[in-house]
Amino acid sequence: MTSAVDFVNSVPLSVGQALGLALLLLVGIIYIGKSRRRNRLPPGPAPWPVIGSLPLLGTMPHSSLYHLSKQYGPLMYLKLGTTDTVVASSPKVAEAFLKTNDGNFSNRPGNAGAKYMAYDSNDLVWAPYGKRWRMLRKVCNIHLFAGKALDDMQPLRQAEVGLLVRSLLEHGRRGEAVNLGEMLNVCTANVLGQVMFSKRVFESRGDSKASEFREMVIELMVLAGVFNIGDFVPSLAWLDLQGVQAKMKILHAKFDDFFGRIIAEHQEESARTGKIKKDFLSVILALRNNADGEGGQLTDTDMKALLLDLFTAGTDTSSSTVEWAITELIRHPDIMEKCRQELDTMVGTERKLEENDLQKLSYLQAVVKETFRLHPSTPLLLPRMAAEACTIEGYHIPKGARLMVNAWGIQRDPDVWERPLEFDPERFVGSSVDVRGTDFEVIPFGAGRRICAGVSMGMRMVQFMLATLVYSFDWSLPAGADGGEAGHGGGVWAHPSEGGAPPRRSVPSFAPCSLRLKKLKTHFRMFFRCCLSFLLH
Ligand code: HEM
Repeated sequence: MTSAVDFVNSVPLSVGQALGLALLLLVGIIYIGKSRRRNRLPPGPAPWPVIGSLPLLGTMPHSSLYHLSKQYGPLMYLKLGTTDTVVASSPKVAEAFLKTNDGNFSNRPGNAGAKYMAYDSNDLVWAPYGKRWRMLRKVCNIHLFAGKALDDMQPLRQAEVGLLVRSLLEHGRRGEAVNLGEMLNVCTANVLGQVMFSKRVFESRGDSKASEFREMVIELMVLAGVFNIGDFVPSLAWLDLQGVQAKMKILHAKFDDFFGRIIAEHQEESARTGKIKKDFLSVILALRNNADGEGGQLTDTDMKALLLDLFTAGTDTSSSTVEWAITELIRHPDIMEKCRQELDTMVGTERKLEENDLQKLSYLQAVVKETFRLHPSTPLLLPRMAAEACTIEGYHIPKGARLMVNAWGIQRDPDVWERPLEFDPERFVGSSVDVRGTDFEVIPFGAGRRICAGVSMGMRMVQFMLATLVYSFDWSLPAGADGGEAGHGGGVWAHPSEGGAPPRRSVPSFAPCSLRLKKLKTHFRMFFRCCLSFLLH
């Protein structure tokens, strides 16, 4: 076969032409080399046809991805189904995505949940990054999460937590174990219901018969957690192979109806009485024609989507964190005792605990941070998407690639933390490391522009609920239990008892609560009737 050199020799060329040709070849080789390097994807496992690396994820994707990152490195590329996915598994790589290149990763990828449940991404959580998202976020920031709004809602939180204590007290006196996870979930949902539309949405007794709304929220959590093939192989989405999309559509209709009625009731009531309630819904109804001060409109759909978002994003995240914290404290009596001593010193034993006390409880704050580190409620944060192709850590990230940040993996990595599997709040005592998205070794709320919108509310609720439970009760696990089921949906069972820290210290808070209870019962009856009538239709 004629070689390239033979070919060149056979063509009569002048010296100048030959030099020019050589130069051209050299430039070509350099260019191809560079563009290959430029388009070099991060390392990762070889994909299977169609399903890609999906089978490698197993039942606990965060754990599987952590182990894969030990093989392929802190920046990995995987084909999940037919979608490009990159996984960040170290603080440095997470920072490169969520801080240095945050603007390019401020979008979220579409999925069936966003389409069929969240009003086709018309909500805040799944909204495309842009003007509308900014408006929704601004409305929430000012009227729900700003310092003043949070302070105004303090009595509501205290009342709901008071009801939780009262219920625990009754169980404790009967010597019964309680499903703590479930009761905390009820408490947080009711706090949010009160704050958003002045309604308690769950029954006050956590472990008694669940209400219709509760069933809906649970079904939503279950559906959101189902691995939906159509999200990863979009060409198969229309087949709805697992029937997930059909279930989502039915559930969405129920939520839509529920929130639609709440909005209508609110409007009717304020028209009838001429009084405006002091809740979030009343505020956004009043602002609907100029929500952000720049002429932004809020339709009924926007409002329903927002209410649904705040409920689902705020309930389980907060309650499962407290559930884990109590479980760890029961497992570590010395840490529980230290928390108690701090409470006794800072709050005393004769008055009820208040939210304002939290700032003095630095050890309790360290316990909360350590719980967020070891048991993040959203292990892979929420997915982001590359708006444009870019280069991170020298690797090519294709346009449209999904980003997963393995917060769970980073927060348990021995390269990042000493004795990472040990629950040791001391590591945060006197440390400036924060969990609110500035220190990338612990990012339970995410980071960057799309960091959790409810960080401050979540922190307050978690700290207050935990402090109250430690302050008011002695805790133990039922015989033979190790609390391993905490945060896994089933709920950890635990014994509250009056032993060490007398619940009488919390009892004074029941006086205003019991008055409130009557009012709440009326709300609940209205809510229940509302659920019943839509079921009958
Ligand atoms: C312990 C409590 C909580 C934890 C650990 C938590 C965690 C998270 C995480 C990891 C994200 C995704 C962030 C990202 O993409 O970087 C998120 C987003 C969000 N969270 Fe939270 N959350 C908590 C409480 C709350 C509460 C109480 C609310 C509201 C009532 C809330 C509302 C939201 C919203 C609206 C988003 C979407 C923000 C956006 O896309 O712009 N969260 N949360």
